[in-house]
Amino acid sequence: MSAATKEVKRITTHVLKNMKIQGEKISMLTAYDYSMARILDEAGIEVLLVGDSASNVMAGHETTLPITLDQMIYHAQSVIRAVKRSFVVVDLPFGSYQGNEMKALDSAIRIMKESGAHAVKLEGGAEIVESVKKILSAGIPVMGHLGLTPQSIYKFGTYTVRAKEMDEAEKLIEDAKLLDETGCFGLVLEKIPAKLGKEVSETISIPTIGIGAGPHTDGQVLVSHDLFGITKDFKPRFLRRYLDLYSTMKDAAQQYMMDVKRQDFPNEKEQY
Ligand code: KIV
Repeated sequence: MSAATKEVKRITTHVLKNMKIQGEKISMLTAYDYSMARILDEAGIEVLLVGDSASNVMAGHETTLPITLDQMIYHAQSVIRAVKRSFVVVDLPFGSYQGNEMKALDSAIRIMKESGAHAVKLEGGAEIVESVKKILSAGIPVMGHLGLTPQSIYKFGTYTVRAKEMDEAEKLIEDAKLLDETGCFGLVLEKIPAKLGKEVSETISIPTIGIGAGPHTDGQVLVSHDLFGITKDFKPRFLRRYLDLYSTMKDAAQQYMMDVKRQDFPNEKEQY
């Protein structure tokens, strides 16, 4: 088989589990559209998350609550069309799984069937475990999400660090163990103390992926629009911006506008 036709080895839940065992860190980034997913897949990012943060960065909502199942499926379909190697996880949106296992199963099946995604992610611990079990019973891989769970923002009241107090930290550890025992293949830990991120990662057998959970989780995830600096006002301590695309793109748009106005664009070579 020539290099050009060589098949790409796809990332699976088994690959991710092995990475944890081998101590190789897992990289995960959000993707909501074909073009971004293609770049991230080619870059070698192991897991692409079609996050409900699309509600914020794609649709401009203040919270993740308004995004619908149909909209998540649309984003997931666009991402899947681009992906050759990455493992694609899709968030079940607010209202599509809480408090109703059959609804949870229906929502997860719609995502898998209509988009071709590889797994779903749900926020919460003991309170959603029956939904997790039901989805798993259909052979659909499930990722958990604990700590700051943005779908519960109106319960928390703020986006500050979670589980700083002992009782909340203890509940988080119990929930992490429960999700592991129930059969989740991975767990996102959002905005918790680094010490707790370490303890959970050492306690459970499945890979933990942190966002603002310190360096000891088995992998890291960021919202790609934050990493590339396409968003500009969101500045949490955990965020490392690798580019300032907001300024770069704005400058390019202004340059284009000037070129159009002074009739420099299109030039002789840029016409038929
Ligand atoms: O929706 C999302 O982008 C997420 C990440 C922050 C983990 O859930």
